[in-house]
Amino acid sequence: MMREVFPLNRWWVAGFSWELTDKPLGRTFLNRPLVLFRTPDGAVAALEDRCCHKELPLSMGAVEARGLRCGYHGLLFNHAGGCIEVPGQPAVPARARVRAYPLREQDQILWVWIGATPESQPQDEPPRYAFHADPRYTFGGDCYHYDAPWQLIHDNLLDLSHLAYVHLKTIGGNPGAHMNAQLTTTSSHETVRVVRRMPDSEPPPTYTAAWPFPGRIDRWQEVNFRVSHCEIWTGAMDAGSGSFDDPERAGFHMRGFHGVTPETTDSAHYFWTVATNPHPDRQDITPLVVGQTALTFAEDQVVIQAQWQNQRRFPGRAQVYIPIDDGPTRARRLIDALLTPQQPP
Ligand code: FES
Ligand SMILES: [Fe+2]
Repeated sequence: MMREVFPLNRWWVAGFSWELTDKPLGRTFLNRPLVLFRTPDGAVAALEDRCCHKELPLSMGAVEARGLRCGYHGLLFNHAGGCIEVPGQPAVPARARVRAYPLREQDQILWVWIGATPESQPQDEPPRYAFHADPRYTFGGDCYHYDAPWQLIHDNLLDLSHLAYVHLKTIGGNPGAHMNAQLTTTSSHETVRVVRRMPDSEPPPTYTAAWPFPGRIDRWQEVNFRVSHCEIWTGAMDAGSGSFDDPERAGFHMRGFHGVTPETTDSAHYFWTVATNPHPDRQDITPLVVGQTALTFAEDQVVIQAQWQNQRRFPGRAQVYIPIDDGPTRARRLIDALLTPQQPP
């Protein structure tokens, strides 16, 4: 049996609701070029980005009330990929259709289901993400394109000790506190969870800008990794004012959603949002938190793309393992296990 390159038959993040306007959007996921579109009635769809007539990308076409019209000879395709009109002739050839991929819009996130074959269909719905609709939070986000393999982004998200060196200007600095944080890593066959706690530490620049901390803080980072996305809850409360074990704890919160979807083996889409709970005295803080987060993630992008370039300059060289690599290593093992074909009984 051939080994798959990416985990198939599952939901992947394809984009955000606000990206789908009146134009088709061409985007490649897991080596499959797709076109996403939204008709004026609000319905969304994903098709293979190839007209079945002379193979123009359908992403060069135009959205109409009934579907997506090819920009070359005008074949019109509906949400299910069926051709419903061939201009200038009454009949539509029976074989005129393109592959459709299940697409869901939920909590401002577009989820696409990539099946191993056109016949395979989802047996479940994509996961919910409640913080995009939680009245206590406001959020913003963006999507970044990476010239690097998707798993290098997982490595970065599952090891937040890099804040100390990569993100000095925003959420990091203070290497002693970061490298000595209390760290717990747990995992199952579908998840990895990394919890870091930094009691009684200095608030970093983004935190002091967003929240009026009078002094030192108890700071936490909780990373919940799944194959399609990570949820990262970071935040802080006044030192000694509450318990790290209280899921309703007060203080300043940043709730990160990180959808990481491979584009090709060497490139990836990174769909992120950050939701924060503005302090009563700083109700207008969200744009600043989102802006600083965008800068922070741009710093990661520079590092990760440079890392990938260098891995290509030194192909096949071994890496040294250190304990902070525990979370990233577990995520890689989990994905490897999904890709290893089951032996037939
Ligand atoms: S290539 Fe699409 S209609 Fe001809
Ligand atoms: Fe980072």
